[in-house]
This record gives sequence, C-alpha cells and structure tokens, in this order.
Amino acid sequence: MKKRILSGIQPSGRLHIGNWFGAMRQHVQLQDEGHDCFYFVANYHALTSTQDREKLADSTLHIVMGYLALGIDPARSTLFLQSDVPQVAELAWFLNCVCPMGLLERATSYKDKVAKGLMSNVGLFDYPVLQAADIAAYDANLVPVGADQKQHLEITRDLVGKLNQAYGGAMLVEPAPYIVDAVAVVPGLDGQKMSKSYDNTIEIFATPKATAKRVAQIVTDSTPLEDAKDPATCNVFALLKLFATADEAAEIGDSYRRGGYGYGHAKKRLGELINDAFAPARERYALLESDPGNVRDVLRDGGRKARAVAEATLARVRDAAGILTHR
Ligand code: ADP
Ligand code: TRP
Repeated sequence: MKKRILSGIQPSGRLHIGNWFGAMRQHVQLQDEGHDCFYFVANYHALTSTQDREKLADSTLHIVMGYLALGIDPARSTLFLQSDVPQVAELAWFLNCVCPMGLLERATSYKDKVAKGLMSNVGLFDYPVLQAADIAAYDANLVPVGADQKQHLEITRDLVGKLNQAYGGAMLVEPAPYIVDAVAVVPGLDGQKMSKSYDNTIEIFATPKATAKRVAQIVTDSTPLEDAKDPATCNVFALLKLFATADEAAEIGDSYRRGGYGYGHAKKRLGELINDAFAPARERYALLESDPGNVRDVLRDGGRKARAVAEATLARVRDAAGILTHR
C-alpha cells in the first residue's frame, strides 16, 4: 500500500556514510518503491545548536544537493526546507500546550547534547516537539530514521495521541518509525558511532584522494601484517562489509584469518569501494553546484507542495482548538 513517508536531516555539517546507510539510502529506496515521500532539511532544528549564519546556510544547501545527487527525484518526492513551512512551528505550539514537562525531561538527547557541551536553551529542550510537528503536519504514516531517533518517534506518537484526545478527534495521524536494524549504527574511524560531533566521519561528497586519506586514519590494532587477524573486531572490516559484495567480504574475511593480509590492504580496498560507490553521486553533485537556479526551483516547488499539506492539517487543528483566524 502506498504510504506517506516523511523524514528530515539537520544541516549541521557534511553528509557522511553513516547518514547514507542509516537514513538516506532508505529514503531513496522508499521513493523507488513508489511511496509518497516528503523529505526536508531541518534548518530550524539546527538553530538549537548553531548561530553561525554562513555555516547553516551552506550546510542547508549541501543536504539538498546531497539528497538530489543520491537519488531523490523531485518529480516523485517532495523535497523542501523546514523553514519554508511556517505551519510546522505553529503546530509545535499546539503540541507544546499538550506536552507534559516530564515527557521532555525524560528525553535522553537533550541531556546527551548538554553533556557534550552544547548550550542549554529552550529550543534544544523542545527539539522533540518541533520534530513531532514536522511529522504530524504532513499526515506521515512512516518515518525512516536511524536507531538513535527511536525515542523522538515515541514522543511524537505520544503527543499526537494527546492532541487528538484533548480535542476529541483524529486531527493528527499517528506515525510509525521505520528503522533498519541491519545497519543500525555505522562505526566511525575510531570505532564509535560515526558522527560529525566525534570528528570520525568519512564524507560522501569528498574527493577520492581525501576519502583515501580519511580511510587511512581508521584505527586498527598493531597485529603485524603476517599474523592472523580477527575481522569481527576490526573497524576497517566493519565498513568494508557495507560496501563489498557478500562474496568479496567473505574472501577478505578469510584473508584476515589466514594472515599475510595487512590492515593497509584492507584500507586500500575500502577506499576504492567507497569512491566507486559514490562516483556517480559525486558527479551529479558537481553539476548541481554549478546550477543553483535549478536547486532553488526544486525548493520552491517542494515548499509549495509541503505548505499545502501542512496548511490543511493546521486548519483542522486550529478549528478543533477554537483558535480563530482571519486571513
Ligand atoms: P550526526 O550524528 O553526524 O550529527 P545526524 O544526527 O545529523 O548525524 O543524523 C542524520 C541521520 O543519519 C539520522 O537519521 C541518523 O539516525 C542517521 N545517522 C547518523 N549517523 C549514523 C550512524 N553512524 N549510523 C547510522 N545512522 C546514522
Ligand atoms: N532529529 C532528526 C535527526 O537528528 C532530524 C529530524 C528533524 C527529523 N525532524 C525530523 C527526522 C522529522 C525525521 C522526522 O536526525
């Protein structure tokens, strides 16, 4: 059955292979399966943790061009900026007013971010409510995200239920998360979760040379080249498995166990595989960069479509809540 899919990515830096396997690959797949997909750049969410104007604007366009280069087709999917749909911030207010403080106090991402040194502000605390509004504004059925977003989806379902209950109707659609467990967490250069905030990423849109250099920095143990190695505990192998065919991964695993195969060999192969996998997308990205008018048109169209859906949702909610408008 055709479903309304929705997901967003924060423009907080350069796209990396964790974003691809954890999120964007599923976004493209769902589009290709014929679902009605809405994808957006969560620039209001990014405002909770940055005040750098250039960087925010720059990463916003980077994510849009990344989506287009990686296979999101604006003729089939609605691609837009969060900031082009003010109804979302409006819906967040309605949700704020049915959201118990305790629900947000229990959210782990706020505590984690503050512990990591981000400025504590009300926006950061309220982040999950804005995310719930993103989802509910478009009547989304299914939300493809990485495993780290599970709690935000639970909060969304909770808030949708509370708003519907408060006004005695089904104004908002209850969404389900879509989390692909097989690639739940992509490890970074140091073996921790790959994340911009740990500076351990391999970027999707880097040059082949920069990619190879990054891959060379993956942390390995000091087992000598001739000795047998355990692929199961190796960061290079964990990434190789994502890019190699099952046959090649099995072969490389055997070479590890046999000995005489060094981490340098594995890294060289991994660099090639990553560069091959993203070569077509990198080419498309370069074309998009040279045609900003085209990107603007895509966003203008996407914003228009997204606003129409969100406005219909808000009309239901305002009416149910007794909020009068005269526009
Ligand atoms: P980062 O951790 O680099 O700041 P984001 O939080 O912006 O990345 O993540 C954007 C999307 O990519 C989210 O849906 C998230 O779940 C997914 N994602 C990010 N890093 C990984 C990873 N290492 N493994 C799997 N999915 C990831
Ligand atoms: N919080 C998400 C992340 O950090 C980004 C996001 C914002 C999102 N709004 C959303 C994801 C709505 C899915 C649906 O990755």
